[in-house]
Amino acid sequence: MRKVSLTIALILIIFKSFADEGMWLPLLLGQQVYDDMVKRGLKLTKEQLYSINKASIKDAIVIFGSGCTGEMVSSEGLVFTNHHCGYDAIASASSLQNNYLHDGFWARSKSMEIPAKGLSVQFLLRMEDVTGQLDSALGALSGIERAKKQSELIAEINRKYSDSTKNIEARVSPLFKGNQFLVFVYQRYNDLRLVAAPPESIGKFGGDTDNWEWPRHTGDFSVFRVYMNKDGLPADYAADNIPLKPKYFLPVSIKGYKEGDYSMIYGYPGSTNRYETSYGVKLSTDINNPSIVNLRDARLKLMFEEMKKDPAVRLKLASSYASIANYWKFYDGETKQLLKYHVYEQKQNLENAFRQWAKGKPEFENLFTEWPKVYDAWRPYAKHRIYLYEGVLGSPFSRFASTLVKLESDLVKAGVDAPVVKQDIAAAIAARKKFLESENLNSDQKIMATTCMMFYTDIDKSQHPIGFYEGIRNSYGDLKDPGTYKSWASAVFSNSFLLNDAKWDAFTRNPDPIALQADPAFAYAGGFVKNYTNKYDPFYQQFLVRNNDLSRLYLKGVMQMNPRKKMYPDATFTMRVTYGNVKSYSPRDAVKYDYVCTMNGVLEKYKPGDYEFDLPAKLLELAEKKDFGPYIDKLHNDLIVCFITNNDITGGNSGSPVIDASGNLIGLAFDGNYEALSHKIAFDKNYNRTICVDIRYVLWCIDKLGGATNIINELKIVR
Ligand code: ARG
Repeated sequence: MRKVSLTIALILIIFKSFADEGMWLPLLLGQQVYDDMVKRGLKLTKEQLYSINKASIKDAIVIFGSGCTGEMVSSEGLVFTNHHCGYDAIASASSLQNNYLHDGFWARSKSMEIPAKGLSVQFLLRMEDVTGQLDSALGALSGIERAKKQSELIAEINRKYSDSTKNIEARVSPLFKGNQFLVFVYQRYNDLRLVAAPPESIGKFGGDTDNWEWPRHTGDFSVFRVYMNKDGLPADYAADNIPLKPKYFLPVSIKGYKEGDYSMIYGYPGSTNRYETSYGVKLSTDINNPSIVNLRDARLKLMFEEMKKDPAVRLKLASSYASIANYWKFYDGETKQLLKYHVYEQKQNLENAFRQWAKGKPEFENLFTEWPKVYDAWRPYAKHRIYLYEGVLGSPFSRFASTLVKLESDLVKAGVDAPVVKQDIAAAIAARKKFLESENLNSDQKIMATTCMMFYTDIDKSQHPIGFYEGIRNSYGDLKDPGTYKSWASAVFSNSFLLNDAKWDAFTRNPDPIALQADPAFAYAGGFVKNYTNKYDPFYQQFLVRNNDLSRLYLKGVMQMNPRKKMYPDATFTMRVTYGNVKSYSPRDAVKYDYVCTMNGVLEKYKPGDYEFDLPAKLLELAEKKDFGPYIDKLHNDLIVCFITNNDITGGNSGSPVIDASGNLIGLAFDGNYEALSHKIAFDKNYNRTICVDIRYVLWCIDKLGGATNIINELKIVR
C-alpha cells in the first residue's frame, strides 16, 4: 500500500510541469498555459504573442546561422544575437591588422558593415500539423521500415511546402518522439552583414573558466543587419541590396527590472531529452560523456599550446577551439549533475511507476522488458563510436581525409570518368580549401598522434581495424610509447599528398584510386571509418531505430497515464517560448546568488594581460568615471551587466531575446548555469537558471564604448 501511494506521489511530482519548466510551441500554447503566463505577470494578448494574420512577437525571432537565435530590433533589418553566435563571422572578417575579434568592430554607417559570407537568418512563416498524413501512411510499421518510410514522407512534405524561388524551406519536425508531426515553413535571407561586436575581452569575458557559470560578467552580444533585394525578396549578397523591413521588431526597454519580474524567452532550443530512460542516463554518465570529455581535453590542450605561442594561430583556431571547449565543459558538468541529483534513480522510479500502470495493457506492458536489451546490444560499441568521431576524426586533417572515402569507392566502382566522380572531386576540392582555411599543422599532427594512441589504449582490441596497429609497431616501435605515435604522425604529415598543393592538383586532374589508397592519411582515416561503418554502425542504426520505436510508445503511454496534464514537446530546434521570472538562487548550503551582477564585479574579476580576464582600456576608463549615462540601474547605482531568470532554455537558444511583461527586450539569453547542466535530461526547478546579458550593458557598449550612436538611434527605446 505504502509503496503504491509512494509511486503515485512520485508520478505526480515528476510529471507535473512547473510554470518555469517547459519549452512551449507559441502557436499551440493553449488557454491553460496562457492563463498561467498572465498569472505570472504577462500583460500581452495571445494574438500579440503569435498571430497567423497580424504581425506579432514571433515575427521578430529568427534562426541565426545554423545553431543560434536572433531577434529583429529595428525597422531596417538590425538583428541582435550573442557574441559567441557571431564569433565565427567576426573571426573570419578579422586579420592580424584588423583584428575585430580582439579590438571589436563598430560600423558607424551602413557602408562600413562587413558582409558575413555563409551566414543566414530564417524567419518562421507558418506552421501546420501534418500528423494525420504521416500516421495514416505509417500505420503500424516499425523498425527500419518505419524509419525509411517516415523519412520519405517527410522529404515529400518538405518539398511540397518549399519554394526555392523565394528561399522558402519547409522542415517537418517529429514532436513527442514521433507522436506528433508539425511542418515549419521558413524563409531564409543570406545577405547578412556584421554591424557591431565588442572586443572579445568583453564578448567572451571570463572565457572557459566562467563559461556555464553564474555569477557571470560577459557582454555576450553582437549586431548584424539583414538585407534583401530591391523586390523585397531574399537574395545573395549584392552591394545594392537594401535593408530588410521585418514584419515586427522588438522595442528595447532601459527601465530595468527587479527580482520576481515576469520574463519570457522566445527562441530555438536545439535538443532536450526529458523522457530519456534510466539506461540512457547511465550510458551517458558511464561511457559517452567521459569519453567525449577525455578526448576533447587532450585536443584542447594541444591546440592551446600552439595558440599561446602565436597570435596568428590563436585567431585561426579561435572559433573551433571555442566550440570544442564549450561542450567539453558541458559534458563534464552534465555527468556531475546527473549523478548529484540522482537522475538515474529518478528515471528508474518513473519507469517503475509506468510498469505498474502498464500492467494488463498489452501495448505497453513489455516496454521495459524490451528496452534494456536494446541498450545491452549497443553498449559494447558505444565507446568506439565516440573515439572515432571525437578522437580519430577529432584531428581536422584526418576528418578531411575521411571525407574522401566516397570518392575512393566511386572511383573503384564507377571509374575515373563517371559523372559522380567529377562531383566527388569538386566536393573534395571545396572541402580541402575549407579545411586548410582553419588548419594549424603543428597542433593537428599532435592531435593525430595522441588520439590514435588513445584509441589503441582505450578501445577493445577486438574492435581495432585489422592490421593497423601491427603496421605501426612494425615501422615505429612499441605501441605503449607515445613516441611511436609521434613518429608515425610525423611521417603521415610529411608524406601525405593531400597536404601537397602540386600533388593534390595533379591527383584531382587525374584521380587514381590506387594513389589515394596508398596515401597514409587516407589509409588511416578511411581505414577507421570503414572499420566502423561496416562492422559497428549497423548496430548503432538498429539501436537508434529500436530506441525511437520504444520512446514513441513510452510517450504515448505517459500521455495516456496523465490525461489532464498539459505537456510540452522536447526541444527540436523549432520555435519555443518559455516563461518565468527574474530570480536569484542558492547553489548550495548557506550560499545565495543574487539575480544581477554589475560593472563593479567586472572590475573585481579584471586581471591585466590575462587570457580570459583582461579588459579594454576604454572600458576601464569609462567604468572608473562611472560614465553609465541613461543605462545606469538606479536601484543598484551601477551598470547591471548580467542577470538570471528561471526560464527553460538550452543550446540553440543562444542569442534569444529576454522579453518583459509588456513585450520589450530586456536582455539576451546566452548561457545556462553549472548547477543545472543536467537540464537536457531533467529540469531542476530549484537550480535551473538562464544567464542573460542585460540590454542596458549592450547599449552602453555600443554607445559609450563603440560610439555607434547610429545604432542606438535605430532602436525603439522604452524609457
Ligand atoms: N555556454 C554557452 C552556450 O552554449 C556558450 C558560451 C560561449 N563562451 C565561451 N566562453 N565558450 O550557449
